[in-house]
Order: sequence, then C-alpha cells, then structure tokens
Amino acid sequence: MALAPSLVGAGAGIRVRKAVNRRPVAAPGIPLLGNAIDLFRRPLEFFVQSYYDVGPVFRASGPGRSYVVLAGPRANTFLAHEGERYLDNRPIYRQVAGELRSGNYAIATDGEQHTHLRRTLKPAFSHKSLSRYLPRMLATADQLVCEWRPGMRLRVLDTMHRLVGEQLGAALVGRALGGDLADAVTFARYSVGAGLGAYPTFMARFPHYLAAKHRMFALMRDIVAEHRDNPPGPNREPDFVDLLLEATDHEGQPLSDDDVIANAQMAYSNAMLYGGPACAFLLYVLLKYPEARARVQAEVDAAFADGIGDARAFFGLKHLHGAMLESMRLFPIALATPRLVVKPFELEGNEVRPGDVTLFAVSVCHFLPEIFPNPYTFDIDRYSEPRNEHHQPAMFVRFGLGAHACAGMGLVEMFVMTTLAAILRHVELTLDPPGYTLRRVVNPFPEPERKLAVRVAALRS
Ligand code: HEM
Repeated sequence: MALAPSLVGAGAGIRVRKAVNRRPVAAPGIPLLGNAIDLFRRPLEFFVQSYYDVGPVFRASGPGRSYVVLAGPRANTFLAHEGERYLDNRPIYRQVAGELRSGNYAIATDGEQHTHLRRTLKPAFSHKSLSRYLPRMLATADQLVCEWRPGMRLRVLDTMHRLVGEQLGAALVGRALGGDLADAVTFARYSVGAGLGAYPTFMARFPHYLAAKHRMFALMRDIVAEHRDNPPGPNREPDFVDLLLEATDHEGQPLSDDDVIANAQMAYSNAMLYGGPACAFLLYVLLKYPEARARVQAEVDAAFADGIGDARAFFGLKHLHGAMLESMRLFPIALATPRLVVKPFELEGNEVRPGDVTLFAVSVCHFLPEIFPNPYTFDIDRYSEPRNEHHQPAMFVRFGLGAHACAGMGLVEMFVMTTLAAILRHVELTLDPPGYTLRRVVNPFPEPERKLAVRVAALRS
C-alpha cells in the first residue's frame, strides 16, 4: 500500500493532491511480545513517544492482541464528535457487564437504550444531588482523617481507597464499606481488568476473586433489601439506590435487581479503580510541590473558617481545583478509550477498518507543548483566567469523550476535593521517605505503586 499522498493529473494544468491512505504502521516492539511490556508497564510514556516517533496513528500489539492506537488533537476531536458513527463500545465492555450480570450497564449499551440509561442516571450526579452529598462526604472524610495520629505511616493508595469508598458508600448507597474494603478492591480490579483485557481472562476464575465477588453481591443485595424495607421519607433522603429502584429501562420495564446492583456498585468499584488513585496522585504532587501546597492550604483554611456553601461554592476553591486538574493532567487514569471499529474511516492519512480494535490515547494531548506549554511542569495556574488551558475543546480528557464520557465527573471532582480538603485541614504529612519519587503501575488502570507512603508529622486540629 502506498505510504504517501500521490500527485495525479486532473485535467489541463490542474494538479490535485489525492490522498492514498495507508494502514497504520506498527510501533517498534520486540519479537513475540510486540509492545506488551510498554502497554502494561508504561502505557502513557509509550503512547506519547510513539506519537512523536511513529505518528498519530499506529499499531501496537501484545500476545494475542492487536490495537490501532490513535492519538493527538485530531484523534481526540474525532472521538468527541464523530466517533459514535464508526465505533462500537458494546463488544469491548460486554464481558464487564457479564461479570455484573447486567443488560443495563451504561458503558455496555448504545443507541436508545444508552440514551435512556444516561437520562435515568443523570439526577444522581446533578448539582442538586452533589450539594446534598457534600456535607455527608465532608463529615465522613473528616472523621476518618481525624483518626490519624502523629508518627503513623500510611500507604497512600490503601488510605485513599478507604477514604473514597467510605464517602461514596455513605453518600450514594447508604452503606460505608467497613470490613468489605478488601473485597471491593479485588472485585473492582478483576471484574474490570479481566473484562477489558488488561488482565488475562483466566484471572476472572481465580478463587479469591470469585469469593470476593460472591461477598460483594451479597453486600449489594443486602443494601437493596434495606432500601426496599426503609423507603425514603421525612427521615431519609433518596439516594442512588432509591433512584435505580424507581427507574425503568428503555422499554418501560423496571430495572432487574442485577441491573440495580450493577449500577449501584459503581459507587464502590469506580471509587476503587479511579477515585483512590486520583486522590493519591493529588496528595503526592501537593507533598512534592510545597509552594503549591501552601497556596491550596491557605485557601482551604480560609474557606472552611467561613463555612463551605453548596457544591458550586466548593468547586470555587480555585487553587484546590487547579491542583486537582493539574494532577489529573499529569497523572491520567483513563488514558486510552477502547472501541471496536464497525465502519471504515480515515484519520491523518491512515485507513482504519471494521474489526480493528482501537485505543484512543486521549491523554497524549496533555503532553503536547502546543496545547499545554511546558507540559511536564506542575502548574496549578493553567486553569485560571486568562490562560484557561482546560477550555480547549477535547484536549484535556480526564473522563473520556463523546456520548459515553463519564457520567460521574462532577461527583469525582467533588470527592477528590473533599478528600484532600480533609487531609489539608487536619494533618501535616510528609512523604516517607521524604525524597520519594512516584512510580506508577497498571492494575488494571494506572495507579501509584504500593510503596507510596506518607507519615503524619503533626495534627493541625
Ligand atoms: C477518577 C474517577 C473516574 C474516572 C477517571 C472515570 C472515567 C470514566 C471514563 C473514561 C469513562 C468512559 C469510558 C469509555 O468511554 O470507554 C467513564 C464512564 C462512566 N463513568 Fe466514570 N470515572 C470515574 C469515576 C466514576 C464514578 C465514581 C462514577 C459513579 C459512581 C462513574 C460513573 C460512570 C458511568 C455511569 C460511566 C458510563 C457512561 C456511559 O456509558 O454513558 N465514574 N468513566
């Protein structure tokens, strides 16, 4: 296949440049393993490096897998605006929905069914709901952080799993995880990891996963029963589970209990897979950059001295919000969006065919200096007037793009901020060891290695 545009004559004196598309070139790899090591150990660095070395569209492979990776501004814009017409998410997420026994799990649906589900879930993540969750989430985070004592050493990811799981459990489904935390982590990692292909599929048959899954389903059934027995009223505000119990599917039928559970358990699973790491990354950068931390700290202290208003006012904490955005830019978690191609398309001179499995490496744009100047510098002022670097459409991608972009993004921003606000208000922490530099692992999404730890240097309150 031709590799470059060819010049062809098109009538007297007119030369028209006709593009001849090529199949994407393979990124250099190693025999038998292809790019498996890069994909599993340093996917972000691999995507950015290949974008420069190979181009915005390239092939990457591992044993038994082959992807077309699309990165850069055009790829992101395509996914945001046109992707739906050419791509299918359902086959990619089918196995995850199967692990959850659900036929109404948003990311594994499409078309009218998906539109209906999105509409159904929306009120759980509205500003009104966020304002309702806020006091309980702040109180839960405060209570957990106030248990810490000077000299304690905390593994950051484990600590954040606890902090985020308890806040979302209390606010969305009326049940803190308590002793079920370890099961929630195992269930989330394996159901999504094996379901999406980040782990080999046989891992979905590991006995410790099956045991954790069994207990998580029992917990969720118990939560659903409790909500049925104690419907919302003057003494209890409706929560996410009540909303799902009231909901119908796109054909007007009540959601099955498995559908209610599949959606409700996101309060735990998504908290573990995405929420814990997001908070851990933010804590790490704030400890690594004391000047930024001092500005955020002063802002948080002043805001809480005056009393925090509703969710909108809380999001107005400009430095805390800027620090959160900047840590999400530098340490993206959902760094590539997987899809199956169902209709051929062309991007940047490359032909992408039905049957190709694509990874839209949406986070590559975070590291392009023409979009985010000095991309490797931690700079919390990028998101303030007049720079507003996050307002460039489809360039800052923390929650996916297009119709399936994360429904919970406002909630996520809120719990990352409530978690860090509680920590900054109540304790002084240091990295342990003090000179530690972050290493990330993929498990099944990027997260800090378990070695990331902090020590409680002093109490502030
Ligand atoms: C840091 C935390 C989170 C990140 C980075 C994140 C990221 C994402 C991404 C990238 C997608 C789209 C996947 C795709 O297109 O293939 C997604 C979908 C979704 N997320 Fe999140 N998520 C987070 C937390 C949450 C939480 C806590 C909830 C709810 C409790 C949630 C609910 C959803 C739902 C319902 C969808 C499916 C949307 C649809 O298919 O229409 N997410 N999320």
